[in-house]
Amino acid sequence: MDVSIFGLGYVGAVTAGCLTEGGHRVVGVDVQMVKVEAFNAGKSPIIEPELDEMLSHARRVGLLKATVDVREAITETQLSIVCVGTPSLASGRLNLDYVRKVTQQIREALVLLGKSHTLVFRSTMLPGSTRQMVSEFLADLIEGGRLKVFYCPEFLREGTAVSDFREPSLSVLGTHDGLAPADVEIAKLLGGDPEFLSWDGAEMIKYACNYFHAIKVGFANEIGRLSKCLGVDGARVMNVVCQDAKLNISRYYMRPGNPFGGSCLPKDVSALSSLARMEGVSMPLLDSTLSSNQSHLDALIKQITQHETRRVGLLGLSFKEDTDDLRGSPMVAVAETLLGRGYQLQIYDPQLNLTRLVGANEAEIQRRMPHLASLLRNSAVDVVAASDLIIVSQACADPNELLPHIRPDQRIIDVNGWASLRDLPCHYEGLCW
Ligand SMILES: NC(=O)c1ccc[n+]([C@@H]2O[C@H](COP(=O)([O-])OP(=O)(O)OC[C@H]3O[C@@H](n4cnc5c(N)ncnc54)[C@H](O)[C@@H]3O)[C@@H](O)[C@H]2O)c1
Repeated sequence: MDVSIFGLGYVGAVTAGCLTEGGHRVVGVDVQMVKVEAFNAGKSPIIEPELDEMLSHARRVGLLKATVDVREAITETQLSIVCVGTPSLASGRLNLDYVRKVTQQIREALVLLGKSHTLVFRSTMLPGSTRQMVSEFLADLIEGGRLKVFYCPEFLREGTAVSDFREPSLSVLGTHDGLAPADVEIAKLLGGDPEFLSWDGAEMIKYACNYFHAIKVGFANEIGRLSKCLGVDGARVMNVVCQDAKLNISRYYMRPGNPFGGSCLPKDVSALSSLARMEGVSMPLLDSTLSSNQSHLDALIKQITQHETRRVGLLGLSFKEDTDDLRGSPMVAVAETLLGRGYQLQIYDPQLNLTRLVGANEAEIQRRMPHLASLLRNSAVDVVAASDLIIVSQACADPNELLPHIRPDQRIIDVNGWASLRDLPCHYEGLCW
């Protein structure tokens, strides 16, 4: 394929080199003459292992050139990849000026040349940015069937960028409808076997990944700082933490849904934060954990109370499935709030048998919801029949049993991502999806 690459910095130069390695012909475009000249001399404008050799070989065999002329690049290629910088403004907001400028230039060239083209945005841009570029500059070309637009985030790390391109940690392609394009060549060109999402979804994934990396570093550093202060080897602690691939370095706990609760997480988070404060160790990231959880609970309550009805059913009250532990349960907090606001509540939880609650578990529910017995129903069907709004925090009922009792005017709020709820013939809302 003949490919033009806009922006010959870290991402653009590596993409260029790696595409020529695959036999594609690349025309690089940059506003900085020094980078264009480097490319035309078969040299890398950035320091990156293997890249100099790749670019010099590509130049020798006629697979590489560079220019400052956008029209020349568009004339010679069928596909353009935008890798220009997206720096922060002084306010911290994202600066899309370079992307906007290059998109406008590509549009002008396409209109002038009257040719069909494919455009891939690869710069890191906030969700909604590709849509914004399309609506500002490209909508008519797409509607006229002359342009296809994709968003393909880049996950390379400087220093290992070439090998990361060859074997990406993740491959994602954003398309206008979130579906795989008929033309699979594009996906292959940019990293093999991608996950397909909407433009916005693919943009969000890039930020989710980088936020996660940043939080991991902050987490390890805060645990390390506190460990050292307590005379413990923080490096060894984190090393051992990472050995647990079942709960720690895993998908477990890594999906949006219920706020956390139970008898351990809130208590232990609170205890370690208190200790750090007493020791004078600043842990702003870890300290924000409980307030983050509270915000999630507040968002759920807001989602519930924005509906007019006051006849609400709760499926699941304990802090998670298959336990009767009500201590620290977010759903108890939801029930308390709704009762306090005069809602009529019906609750079903198959694990709950009030006569069998003992110790701290019983004491907590006596303190927080002394009338719980009068709200508990024997079956999920009883709750569904008496409610307009059903909050489902656990997969604790058989959807086939619920089916005959569901009314089209009812609404379900799915707190924990229970897929079969979507098929019930009523209104469906997810907490984070
Ligand atoms: N560097 C990384 O490790 C990395 C990894 C993944 C994603 N990203 C993202 O990729 C994008 C590019 O990052 P980078 O590190 O390669 O940036 P960079 O600053 O190294 O390079 C950007 C290049 O774009 C050029 N440019 C600006 N306006 C232009 C225009 N109108 N026409 C042509 N060229 C133009 C600049 O001259 C510069 O050479 C950013 O959005 C960044 O966040 C970077």
